Amino acid sequence: MKAVVWHGIGDIRLDEVPEPTIQDPHDAIVHITRSAICGTDLHFVRGTMAPMVEGTILGHEAVGVVSQVGDAVRGFSPGDRVVINSTISCGACRYCRMGQTAQCDVANPNGPQAGTSFFGGPQSTGPVDGLQAEYVRVPWAQNTMHPLPDNVSDEQAILLSDIFPTGWFGAELAGVRRGDVVVVFGAGIVGQFAAASAYKQGAGRVIVVDGHETRLAAALAQHCEVVDYNREDPVQAILDLTNGIGADAVIDAVGVDAERPKHGPAAVTDEQAAAFDAEVQQVAPDASPDGFGEQQQWKPGDGPSQVAKWAVASVAKYGRIGIIGVYGPTAQSYPIGEAMNKNLTIRMGNCDHHSVTPPLIDMVAAGQFDPTALITEHEGIGSAIAAYEAFDRREPGWIKVELTDLTA
Ligand SMILES: NC(=O)c1ccc[n+]([C@@H]2O[C@H](COP(=O)([O-])OP(=O)(O)OC[C@H]3O[C@@H](n4cnc5c(N)ncnc54)[C@H](O)[C@@H]3O)[C@@H](O)[C@H]2O)c1
Ligand SMILES: [Zn+2]
Ligand SMILES: [Zn+2]
Repeated sequence: MKAVVWHGIGDIRLDEVPEPTIQDPHDAIVHITRSAICGTDLHFVRGTMAPMVEGTILGHEAVGVVSQVGDAVRGFSPGDRVVINSTISCGACRYCRMGQTAQCDVANPNGPQAGTSFFGGPQSTGPVDGLQAEYVRVPWAQNTMHPLPDNVSDEQAILLSDIFPTGWFGAELAGVRRGDVVVVFGAGIVGQFAAASAYKQGAGRVIVVDGHETRLAAALAQHCEVVDYNREDPVQAILDLTNGIGADAVIDAVGVDAERPKHGPAAVTDEQAAAFDAEVQQVAPDASPDGFGEQQQWKPGDGPSQVAKWAVASVAKYGRIGIIGVYGPTAQSYPIGEAMNKNLTIRMGNCDHHSVTPPLIDMVAAGQFDPTALITEHEGIGSAIAAYEAFDRREPGWIKVELTDLTA
């Protein structure tokens, strides 16, 4: 079968690989009908979240049909239609029982202190082969999959694998309350779902900040107030929009590949630019700061702590920040002093997919929310590498790529 395989920073390939087999009685094998490319996958190819193990199959979002179950898997049978959680969890440890499934004590083969285990990630997360392939092995399958009702289509369900739960979790981390003014940094697909979730959790206003026009247009279509950081200073704009108070809650949906503004009143000074260059070197020592080839493909973000700084500066005193944008362990810059002196509450982390997702499946099944409008691209696995490249370049309109045919 074909699969998208990580070979090195700036080097992913569509390889012919053997079909997976059951390796543990808790495993299931799933025949994938839909997969997707995520902003998280880009960090691995850009080298901003390392180290990866060569040969790891990428991808952590998928929907499929169970083809085989191990002897210890209860509750699922071959033929069941399922959505696979991006993060892997056992269902029995103390963290899983509290719903904190991203910190499952058992799923990560590197041990209980290693943190989240997810599909297609770096060495420290398993590594566990990912979901951009025709067949996949799902460890701890009983807890890592959810059954899908017939009235939720594959097209809807693919966004229940990671994106909708992560956006919802981001709004929860930021403690969104009725009437809040919420700011979302990042209008990628995760930011879009964080904005939609903030509204559903009671936000009075949602302001979305990004530097890409088509992404801001998608946020505007959801009736968010939008701020282009290349035209306005986002911190000033947010203060102006909130009577000088700042936002009640801020969601960082960007993470380590944040960019610095290139134009407008927020464009960085030479001194700030040098500080960001040093940060990129520290965060991603093996990345290529100018990218690869003429298209400057796989360039790491050139302002790793830019969103962290803006979030702290634009939130009100006693405000709340939820961080769902991914930062690897090498990212060490955070405006801690400014945050402390504003009495902020900052919560962060990988989404607890297993416990967050079930009510969202119900919401989609009930027709209360249709997540499909933001899937902008449909590709077969044969064009997956070109799709990764276009998504990495943030080509206009490329907000979310779904892989619809995993055989060709
Ligand atoms: N915590 C979790 O469980 C979880 C799950 C899924 C994804 N993520 C993370 O969420 C983040 C977003 O994912 P995505 O798929 O939407 O990625 P994406 O790359 O498509 O979107 C990122 C967006 O951030 C914007 N951006 C860059 N610099 C910015 C800045 N300074 N200010 C405001 N916006 C800026 C980009 O223009 C882009 O639109 C990634 O870091 C991803 O790894 C986290
Ligand atoms: Zn994802
Ligand atoms: Zn567990």
